[in-house]
Amino acid sequence: MDNIINEIKKLKKEKNAVILAHYYVCDEVQEIADFVGDSYYLSKKATEVSESMIVFAGVKFMGESAKILNPEKTVVMVDGKADCPMAHMVTPEKIEEVRSKYDDLAVCCYINSTAEIKAHSDVCVTSSNALKIVKSLPNKNIFFIPDGNLGRYIAEKVTDKNFIFNDGYCPVHVKITRQDIINKKKEYPNAKVLIHPECTPDAVELADYAGSTAGIIDYATKSHCDEFIIATEKGVLYELRNKNPEKKFYTVNDSQICPDMKYVTLEKIKNVIENTENVVELSEKMSEGAKKALDEMLRLAE
Ligand code: 13P
Ligand code: SF4
Repeated sequence: MDNIINEIKKLKKEKNAVILAHYYVCDEVQEIADFVGDSYYLSKKATEVSESMIVFAGVKFMGESAKILNPEKTVVMVDGKADCPMAHMVTPEKIEEVRSKYDDLAVCCYINSTAEIKAHSDVCVTSSNALKIVKSLPNKNIFFIPDGNLGRYIAEKVTDKNFIFNDGYCPVHVKITRQDIINKKKEYPNAKVLIHPECTPDAVELADYAGSTAGIIDYATKSHCDEFIIATEKGVLYELRNKNPEKKFYTVNDSQICPDMKYVTLEKIKNVIENTENVVELSEKMSEGAKKALDEMLRLAE
């Protein structure tokens, strides 16, 4: 393993590359990445790094967002097939249909969406800034896409707006069920339940804290409690245990694995840097439209 890590380090220097990784990729990739974070942190970081090549250890929408925000940089995906199924769970036709029915509408698009969907939206959000951004919008009607669960979680906290929901969902988080959490809580009654708001509302209801991957890590790190039930993809355990070696973390069940995030391997990182493979390319028109929604997110999240 040391060998491949040294090769990656050497190639990064030669190609002036930086590795950005999401908390859901496997441990050894998080260990060698230059920056690891949640979707909001990574999209912001992509605008700050000076290297000319960004190597994205994550899924397609993350690499696309980095490219849209930095059209002059070369962005490569570690695995070109790594994609988020939820990103495709709404169509431009559906957006236009809702636009035609409602006045005073903002189309609010979770960053887990394709560039085409972002280009049809007014503003992007991530799980860490959605509440702040939706609250700050002047519009009465909010069409929240593509995630119905995150949309409902936000709507419950923003009672002065009318929400139109979409029925998209994360196939990984919906498998973290209310009953599984109840069972784990019986096993570890003193543990706090930390959950991602992509889980279903009946599961989120049981949690002591709901938030983004970075929010979950931050909460556990600052907490005086020393046991936690973690209701999100199990990749976060790497950073949770790194930051809190004395605390105990339990998963809810055996299905907390995002298969697309696990496509990312050290071997593939080496190859894509060496051969400049899986370069993210987007049409100028789509990029410009999507950039407006992402820029609006960065502006409103400040
Ligand atoms: P975060 O922004 O919380 O890291 O979420 C990304 C994601 O894909 C959750 O499933
Ligand atoms: Fe998409 Fe779910 Fe995987 Fe996140 S965990 S990238 S939302 S499939």
